[in-house]
Amino acid sequence: MNNITVLSAIARQRVLDATHSYIERKTTASTVLTESMLYVMRNGGKRLRPLLIYCLGESLGIQMDLLDAGACAIEMIHTYSLIHDDLPAMDDSALRRGQPTCHKVYGDAIAILVGDTLQPLAYEIIATHPSPLSSQQRVDTITALSQASGVLGIAAGQVLDITASPKNLTQDQLDTINYYKTGSLLSACLHVVTIAGNISDEMILETLGNYTKKIGLAYQIQDDIFDIEVDPNILGKPNGLDQSNNKLTYPRLIGMTAAKNKVNSLFDEATQPLKQLNIKTDILVAYANFVLGRQY
Ligand code: IPE
Ligand code: IPE
Ligand code: MG
Ligand code: MG
Ligand code: MG
Repeated sequence: MNNITVLSAIARQRVLDATHSYIERKTTASTVLTESMLYVMRNGGKRLRPLLIYCLGESLGIQMDLLDAGACAIEMIHTYSLIHDDLPAMDDSALRRGQPTCHKVYGDAIAILVGDTLQPLAYEIIATHPSPLSSQQRVDTITALSQASGVLGIAAGQVLDITASPKNLTQDQLDTINYYKTGSLLSACLHVVTIAGNISDEMILETLGNYTKKIGLAYQIQDDIFDIEVDPNILGKPNGLDQSNNKLTYPRLIGMTAAKNKVNSLFDEATQPLKQLNIKTDILVAYANFVLGRQY
């Protein structure tokens, strides 16, 4: 096993442990709520965002227990965003991670409420997780995550994604939508790490900021390519939804070959500048390869 595969298994386990301890330990007023939260959180995704956090942490020499709260919180916010994204009022999808979507199992109302519950739980985790984080670090992390998931992040991006008129969109506008709906949370992974490690070096912040932005965009373009090319059995979610929902995507805007070339050039633009940094960047190149070389 190479380094990134080992780290991926570790990230998965650390997030699962933190998630379970928070969901199972909690006294909720409803067992359906507990059960449905565990259904979506156990039904493991790739956990690419926690992995990014631990990879950035390794590159900057930050101990893992300073990163667990942020990794778990970000995975919860990501999972809530998928539950709502799959609802009939949004992308209307019946399958997620190879299993029926939350609303197919528990109904629309519970699925909305599971999302409503996972979001504040994410912030509670950052506020209370027994990590050696200072109060100021917790406040700063909560601020970064709120922005990345709300008015300057996922919610704003999802509104743009749903309301944009595909015919008139430019590539710049599409990049903006992709940044808000997907890239913002990957950028927030960097904030989790730099806040936990008190990193203030301008060159490091700028170069890693560029890295997470480019990887975030490449990641969404690849997701859009998969929606056209990959079998639902491999994908774990239906394909063809972007077309049936009349979404503007890179393959639709510039064609499949150009979209694939764009992913490759974003990979280079993300990883080349890392060479100027005096930190361990191999793990970040490995992460970019891992994410962009994925099969689903
Ligand atoms: C899917 O995210 C939604 C996008 C932002 C493209 P992932 O591909 O990370 O989904 P999971 O968490 O592995 O299921
Ligand atoms: C999802 O984008 C972005 C989110 C913020 C959830 P997609 O709608 O393309 O994600 P999938 O294809 O359903 O996973
Ligand atoms: Mg969507
Ligand atoms: Mg979707
Ligand atoms: Mg998609």
